[in-house]
Amino acid sequence: MSGAEKSRVVYGEEEYPAIRAAARAAAEAVDQLVAMTRPGMSTGELDAVATAVIASTGGESAFLGYRGYPGQICISVNDEVVHGIGLPDRIMRRGDVVSLDVGVQLGGFIGDNATTFIVGGDTPSKDVARLLKGTREALDEGIAAAVPGNRIGDISAAVERTAKRHRLGVVREYVGHACGRELHEPPEIPNFTGRSKGPALKPGMVLAIEPMLNLGKRHVVTDKDGWTVRTRDGSVSAHFEHMVLVTNDGPEILTWRKT
Ligand code: MF3
Ligand code: CO
Repeated sequence: MSGAEKSRVVYGEEEYPAIRAAARAAAEAVDQLVAMTRPGMSTGELDAVATAVIASTGGESAFLGYRGYPGQICISVNDEVVHGIGLPDRIMRRGDVVSLDVGVQLGGFIGDNATTFIVGGDTPSKDVARLLKGTREALDEGIAAAVPGNRIGDISAAVERTAKRHRLGVVREYVGHACGRELHEPPEIPNFTGRSKGPALKPGMVLAIEPMLNLGKRHVVTDKDGWTVRTRDGSVSAHFEHMVLVTNDGPEILTWRKT
């Protein structure tokens, strides 16, 4: 394999049905888990519920055991950015900003997606509303740039530009990725632009685009548990993730959801 080929994974049309099925399973699991989240529930309870929800899709967790990850899903509350582990004493309160990230392995492929919402469905403060709207919009703009002829860096630029417009901090330590037979495949998809514009986008690439944006500064720290990533300044963070198939007819969102 040449360097250029190793830097990106391209799937064939005969694989699309199985890729779509894995992505759908992951999206439906997120929608169900959002609907089941109640004030007073612990993140440990929600993680336990996720076992059954994921099983009901016919798949299994793609996160459990990945590099030793101990949970079924990731549940990140308020200043937690990503990779929060469900715990029995971590109670979710009305008004908390919770992000759920779910990976499902099904039929040889992996679906991966995430959303952020307010527990109890309360009206958010002005700042939290800006955070949720801005992060969702950054994802939408990133997806719109996922077309043949563009490069990975065009997705990054669209996400970063939208984050800046909403005055949100862009996390740099964690990035999006291609996703197919493996959870993380090349190329990486940063939410900020760098020196290289990255590989060209081709039909058959399956991209997990996932802005992680903060109300405060971009910097993050990792807890002693080795997983939970939180904002250094304690500000609230949001995370939205969709999987997208690059086609000649434009980006096909594989993980469309209600939430
Ligand atoms: N959606 C995240 C990612 O793409 C979740 C990975 S968490 C882990 O990296 F549990 F799998 F490690
Ligand atoms: Co991901």
